[in-house]
Amino acid sequence: MPVRPALARDADVLRSVLLEAYNWDGEQRFTAEQLAADPHAARYLAGWPRGGDFGVVAETDAGEPVGAAWARCLPEDEPGYGFVAPDVPELTLGVLPGHRGRGHGRALMEALIRAAAEGPAPVARLSLSVEDGNSAVRLYTSLGFTRVGRNGGSDTMVLDVRTRAL
Ligand SMILES: CC(C)(COP(=O)(O)OP(=O)(O)OC[C@H]1O[C@@H](n2cnc3c(N)ncnc32)[C@H](O)[C@@H]1OP(=O)(O)O)[C@@H](O)C(=O)NCCC(=O)NCCS
Repeated sequence: MPVRPALARDADVLRSVLLEAYNWDGEQRFTAEQLAADPHAARYLAGWPRGGDFGVVAETDAGEPVGAAWARCLPEDEPGYGFVAPDVPELTLGVLPGHRGRGHGRALMEALIRAAAEGPAPVARLSLSVEDGNSAVRLYTSLGFTRVGRNGGSDTMVLDVRTRAL
């Protein structure tokens, strides 16, 4: 189950994954066009990769991308849904339909956490937002994320990367 660093040329893969994350419950709440026109969604990917961004892509053995996770710091006046502080990167995770339930999501999260701990500019914490009803919360909890707040109908969760990396 290969996982590799996300590169500039992966922007389209990340965009597909962002769409999956926005439509996590299987309802097509956003089309690709709506997502592309949504200023809030743009915060997660505009200019990928910007300084400080880091991410990972999961591929099939044949090299076909099937999912990705990445993290980016956002400013307080243009935050993400899982904002906790401007120096805490917020992550986005998704596996394409048809490839779920085979361990890619967990492998992506573990690789992203390693990248956060061991990358060129190690980060102390990672945050995320998970909407009520999304079973991804079980994955996050099992990795050590804890709930630190609420934003609308979603939990904001944080992982202390240093504690987990020990
Ligand atoms: C969440 C998501 C990334 C998980 O990826 P995945 O490759 O399916 O997950 P994995 O096979 O690695 O499973 C990881 C854990 O997730 C949980 N899980 C996975 N599929 C599940 C399902 N259908 N129902 C309940 N729990 C599930 C399990 O707890 C599993 O734990 P395990 O590793 O001990 O078995 C994927 O389902 C997805 O892309 N969903 C849509 C987008 C989304 O919700 N993104 C996150 C937004 S916060």
